[in-house]
Amino acid sequence: MVIRTTIYPNFLFSEWALFVYYFISLEYLKRFEKHIFICENERPAEHPRGCCNDKNSKVIREKFKTRLKELGLNSIIRANGSLCLDACDFGSTIVVYPEQIWYGAVTANDVEEIIHSHLINNKPVERLLINDSRFNQDDIK
Ligand code: FES
Repeated sequence: MVIRTTIYPNFLFSEWALFVYYFISLEYLKRFEKHIFICENERPAEHPRGCCNDKNSKVIREKFKTRLKELGLNSIIRANGSLCLDACDFGSTIVVYPEQIWYGAVTANDVEEIIHSHLINNKPVERLLINDSRFNQDDIK
């Protein structure tokens, strides 16, 4: 059975429902304005790719969580640990969404700058950007 709406007669009901779902989910159900994923992947010491866990990524994630809470930003900016982000050569690796900014060689000492420059003032921290077009686009470097 095909149901057509009266507003857009050529628009099938299922397409209309999908459109409404996307509109609601994008505009009204958006839980966080930014989401930071911090790779905490662990590999054996002899693994050739290494891992972010060996570069203190759990400390970095904890510091993000603590500082975002202290600054009252944890309801709009979420920091999550993740498994491998496939940027192992650049670890410790983090990525910030929705803008898809990738940072490499991040340390706990960089957290404050990322929060204030990028997360609060929307200015990515250039010195930490992964300098590889597979991650960051040329126009933000
Ligand atoms: S282990 Fe961190 S990006 Fe792969």
